[in-house]
Amino acid sequence: MHDHNDQEPIGSVPALFPIRQERQRLDDLLTQELLDAAVRVIAGPVTPTIDLAAFRRELAGFDFTEPRPIDELLAWTVARMEEGVVHVTHPRYFGLYNPSPTFPAQCADRIAASFNPQLATSTTSPVPVEIEAHVIRAVARRAGLPPQAGGHFTSCGSEANYTALVCALTRCNGHFATMGSRSFEGPPVFYVSRESHLAWLKIAHQAGIGRSAVRLVATDGCGRMDPDALSRTLIDDRERGCVPVMIAATAGTTNAGMIDPLLDCAKLARFARAWYHVDAAWGGALIASERLRHVLDGIEQADSITIDAHKWFATTMGCGMFITRHPEVLSSAFQVSTTFMPSNLPQVDPYVTSIQWSRRFLGLRLFLSLGAAGWVGYAQHVEHSTELAALLRQRLERCGWSVINDSPLAVLCIKPPSGFDKARPLVSRLLAAGRAWVAAAMFEGEEIIRACVTNGESSEHDVDELVMALEAAAVA
Ligand SMILES: Cc1ncc(COP(=O)(O)O)c(C=O)c1O
Repeated sequence: MHDHNDQEPIGSVPALFPIRQERQRLDDLLTQELLDAAVRVIAGPVTPTIDLAAFRRELAGFDFTEPRPIDELLAWTVARMEEGVVHVTHPRYFGLYNPSPTFPAQCADRIAASFNPQLATSTTSPVPVEIEAHVIRAVARRAGLPPQAGGHFTSCGSEANYTALVCALTRCNGHFATMGSRSFEGPPVFYVSRESHLAWLKIAHQAGIGRSAVRLVATDGCGRMDPDALSRTLIDDRERGCVPVMIAATAGTTNAGMIDPLLDCAKLARFARAWYHVDAAWGGALIASERLRHVLDGIEQADSITIDAHKWFATTMGCGMFITRHPEVLSSAFQVSTTFMPSNLPQVDPYVTSIQWSRRFLGLRLFLSLGAAGWVGYAQHVEHSTELAALLRQRLERCGWSVINDSPLAVLCIKPPSGFDKARPLVSRLLAAGRAWVAAAMFEGEEIIRACVTNGESSEHDVDELVMALEAAAVA
């Protein structure tokens, strides 16, 4: 007796919906291809080697008139990916916060792709919705928020930060939902440091309050928001008739991993009666470590927090989280009612408490990773990164290089020894050699080399290799 997947149903397209045995053969083939590629990636260059002009010509050959065998397509794709991306899975990728993903998160993606649940409502996906809510509550509690705190997974940190602004505007003015920024007596404005992640400008634009609503507050010379400058800007704005709606402190600036003075920002937000958001997109993972979490003191006072699981929690991309102590504000910001949805319950249905409607099962990535490693495993993971960063600092300083940020996270802003070339040309040479990946960036007005430990499998040997690669790329 055959069951459904042993025979092609009449009318279905076998290339899109192969029978069970064929799926199994292709699954095994792909698994093997990916395992082999992972071994080659680690042994090869970190940077792309593809000839992009040739690749574009090859791609033009895909005019989709004739079907091609899936075996061929899979092998082709894996091969081109090997040549055509910066390898964040390489242990000498010391780059932006793109992690080498955890294995449980990769398993989660397979499971989500297989069942393909729609997480808009609990009615259609009760188990996934409960799992996501459970993880969000666990992270919120770990960050020190009260038991009623809630939130949801987002596509990325920018979506979570955008959610924070919408909540701030909605709570600040009861008419914002219907009238938008016209409901305010003066222009609504919000405060971030000039070292914050500048997606805030796009967020202000999308929210309809305009890019000029973003106050880029001065820093203290060490990359942290200066509370005196924040206080002065708030007073000036009030005097000019602007309405401060939110202070967003950054816990782990993108360039330098600096943490704004969270307690001062909380106090000023209370004083200004503004929403207090903490953008802990990367640094938030420190809640896992009993030894290091004190650097986030003050995060527990936040009205809302952004943490990206796809950064230091090392899930696959993109997997942000928005957490708030006021879940009721989410439902007033995102409530909508339709006849075609099977339910409309702000307590459980994500589509009425968040920006997204159709929703992928992202939270499973962190559920399985946390489940398999526990907080204790993540504590070890983040501490390993900070220890390697400290080691890198030591090695560089011994060779006459300097590190000009003082971050408790795993990122260094490096300057070559005096008399050597500037950061940007040096980084270009280093990337051309392909032995390691670092970024060129600015920190407090200075051009620097930014090296960040993002790969949970990087080792002391990789730190030594990076130092050698930097020395080789330095030209007097
Ligand atoms: C501090 C901070 N906030 C927000 C973001 C934006 O996150 P995403 O790229 O997930 O949108 C980043 C990204 O690096 C970041 O470092």
